[in-house]
Amino acid sequence: MLYLILAIFILLIKESDAAAVDQCCRRHQVPEICVNSLCNPTKPPDDFKVYEIFDHRNNCSSHLKKIAQCLSNGRNHTSCCSSEARDRDLNACFSLCEGEGLGSGVVWPKYQSCLAVNLPSMFTCFEKGYQNTPSPPQLITAVKVGPHMVELSWSPPTQNPNLAHKYEVICSESDQNMETEDDEIVEETRNTFITLTDLHPGTKYLAYIIAITRDGKRRSLASDIIHFQTSGVPPTIQAFKDPVQTPRTATSVILACRFQISGISHSKLHLEWQRKSGKGYEVINDPRFLLTSYVSSYGRPREFVTTLEIFHLQASDFTMYRCKIADEFGNAHADVQLKTSSMGAANSEPPDTPLGCCQYRGVESRCLAMCGASDNDAKKYVPRPSMPINCSGELAKVISCAMQGIDESPCCLKKKVPRTCMYLCDGSITPHSHMPFACLEHLESAQTCRANGLQKRPTAVDGLKATSSPGTDTVVLRWNQSERAEIYHVYWRKRPDQQWEVKSVVGTTKKISGADEVVVVAANAFGISQAAKLSLANAKWSRN
Ligand SMILES: *[C@@H]1O[C@H](CO)[C@@H](O)[C@H](O)[C@H]1NC(C)=O
Ligand SMILES: *[C@@H]1O[C@H](CO)[C@@H](O)[C@H](O)[C@H]1NC(C)=O
Ligand SMILES: *[C@@H]1O[C@H](CO)[C@@H](O)[C@H](O)[C@H]1NC(C)=O
Ligand SMILES: *[C@@H]1O[C@H](CO)[C@@H](O)[C@H](O)[C@H]1NC(C)=O
Repeated sequence: MLYLILAIFILLIKESDAAAVDQCCRRHQVPEICVNSLCNPTKPPDDFKVYEIFDHRNNCSSHLKKIAQCLSNGRNHTSCCSSEARDRDLNACFSLCEGEGLGSGVVWPKYQSCLAVNLPSMFTCFEKGYQNTPSPPQLITAVKVGPHMVELSWSPPTQNPNLAHKYEVICSESDQNMETEDDEIVEETRNTFITLTDLHPGTKYLAYIIAITRDGKRRSLASDIIHFQTSGVPPTIQAFKDPVQTPRTATSVILACRFQISGISHSKLHLEWQRKSGKGYEVINDPRFLLTSYVSSYGRPREFVTTLEIFHLQASDFTMYRCKIADEFGNAHADVQLKTSSMGAANSEPPDTPLGCCQYRGVESRCLAMCGASDNDAKKYVPRPSMPINCSGELAKVISCAMQGIDESPCCLKKKVPRTCMYLCDGSITPHSHMPFACLEHLESAQTCRANGLQKRPTAVDGLKATSSPGTDTVVLRWNQSERAEIYHVYWRKRPDQQWEVKSVVGTTKKISGADEVVVVAANAFGISQAAKLSLANAKWSRN
């Protein structure tokens, strides 16, 4: 008796689900013949019918989108459709299982053979799905929105709410712009509410929710989409480097600020650079000044950069500058001082040679050939390290070893090199162990900037030789003059555990004593050359 009641009950559910699909199709003005063949999941059409309903007279194909929506009834039957299919390879029509019509790029004959072969098993899946899969969550609302967060809440599905074991919440920016990274937020919860954090301020988002069963295999279709916008916050701005130093003789210099704003549409954004004038600041209006600004990262935090390049430097340009930003949420500014750099005093330790640095940083020996590249030839180009097979993993270390004591970041900023790749331009930044893929396209810019820098700094010392005086531990060092050198820093020490001694000389000789190891670098107001190194430990130097 109980079984009978149960059987009748199940039959009733089936009938009512089938009736619901039928009504849904009719409500959407699907023609009678299509309703009869496609909107009754208990009765799949036979092969003959499948071809008939799609011929030009009946034209059911133009109603497929609505039919699919009615058939799926809020459930995603995809996983059942593919596991139960008679022929899984004939899957061109499986979009029906997720409530979609003819997908773009689907060839009609393939769609039709998929239906002819697999429609019966798909219909069985629909029937099962109505019983064992929850429909989409309802009434999704944004309860609370802040600059970086949103609190969403929703109601359980209308059908099979008890089967909704958990919910998947999907949130992404709705103001998608071509370059915005695809940073969709996907979170799961067993509650009917969630707080999403780490959102961008002043930005438009959309979100929807999917109900999922305990085994994770059966899923509803997406809920209605909710749109919301996070609240805006005042902009912030920081000097990229302060002070900026450059020799009085430089032909140009670049000042830069980074800033953060709410959202990415800049209709009310106002950005300007000012220069100190008397006690205040005034807007710069001089063709020698070139202003650029751009988005440097769409990631988190989203970051923008503005640069001010000053050409044909004059004495009065060495003063205070101010980058200013204003938008509908507030304003901010940062100051940058432009100072003349004079030739730096020698550091207490010499820079390592590129090869020594590579060895110290553990570049694999088969890749060390890349570290041989030096700036020492007068050829005015940056030697592009020739890369032995399979050494790309070491590239980051090699590049930073070639960049010691070198900072071309202002030039790189102007060329829009993003922060994650800045180690290609600034030797003081520790490189990633592997080069981020995104940096590949910036290698060229970084090399151009390095080449520009090389033309200002002295070339490395070459022809470094030591001549000993017999019977003493005194040697005379000699080297060839470097291009653009104003001074040479000479370092020496007896043993690796000793302090370096250092003297700066204008000429190209230096007498020292008690040295096993010698390093010479050329310097001018723009910086230093790469190091030239000489080992005297094995008494290999020439004797008079
Ligand atoms: C079939 O549908 C297409 C696309 O909607 C339409 O252009 C065509 O006129 C329809 N044919 C008939 C016979 O209804
Ligand atoms: C349906 O579920 C499958 C996985 O079973 C998934 O790949 C697909 O994106 C889902 N479709 C929709 C519209 O949610
Ligand atoms: C390249 O390096 C990887 C990891 O270090 C190694 O597994 C692979 O065999 C190497 N390939 C060649 C051609 O040396
Ligand atoms: C150094 O200069 C001398 C003479 O000017 C020249 O003969 C020699 O080749 C130079 N050494 C190097 C390594 O360039």
